[in-house]
Amino acid sequence: MSADPRAVRAMFARIAPRYDLLNRLLSARCDVRWRRRAVAMLPPGGGLALDLACGTGDLGLAALALRRAAAIVGCDACLPMLQAGRRRWRGLPFRPLVGDALRLPFPDRGFDAAMLAYGWRNFCDPRAALAELRRVLRPGGHLLILEFFRPQRPWPRLFYRGVARRLFPLVGGWVAGDAAAYRYLACSVDGFLSVAEADALLASCGFRTRRWRAFAGGISHAVAAVADGVREPAPP
Ligand SMILES: C[S@@+](CC[C@H](N)C(=O)[O-])C[C@H]1O[C@@H](n2cnc3c(N)ncnc32)[C@H](O)[C@@H]1O
Repeated sequence: MSADPRAVRAMFARIAPRYDLLNRLLSARCDVRWRRRAVAMLPPGGGLALDLACGTGDLGLAALALRRAAAIVGCDACLPMLQAGRRRWRGLPFRPLVGDALRLPFPDRGFDAAMLAYGWRNFCDPRAALAELRRVLRPGGHLLILEFFRPQRPWPRLFYRGVARRLFPLVGGWVAGDAAAYRYLACSVDGFLSVAEADALLASCGFRTRRWRAFAGGISHAVAAVADGVREPAPP
């Protein structure tokens, strides 16, 4: 996929005020459960974690609640998404920051863990984002990615092509006044990596996959991986 980064940012800025509501509606609240089950794949305890493409903070906040991180830096390219979430992390060790996944504004090896929910397929260069995540993680640090990958099996394919492509723009238009954004979100799945391709990309960027989990029969997947201490990320 090669989404134009400015168009992606503008799209999220438009839907930011209704983003959480639409997530809950379109997934019948499954998204909350998927994030919690994904975060539970990280080892307990944990130190400083990066929530990349954090949006309104759902994943990082779940990590704090489940004690998978002691503190979170939430990084997102879209300021209105961070503004939409700011009331939720008030008083918590969650520091929001505007930044681009392809040029993370952090030093090397500064994070104990990194997580990314439903942001990867919006990046114009998924490999470069992984290389950046590998750079900012300490060796042995944990990576968690939750995403909608290009479906290979009949049921998820039917869901995306038969249901999501029709339903998402309809509900997105009605609730957020932006059918185009929700058409893009449903269709972008088809242009993204499959689970097998993502697994190979992770390995080539210096990550050792620990575990994959499928949710709702493969509509969404989570992968937990470790930043390999020996291999350096492959050049982009
Ligand atoms: C589908 S939302 C996911 C938000 C949140 N992680 C969640 O689970 O609800 C994707 C997010 O990726 C952000 N994003 C898109 N491109 C980005 C980039 N190049 N760098 C950082 N964030 C980006 C968007 O602004 C948006 O907040």
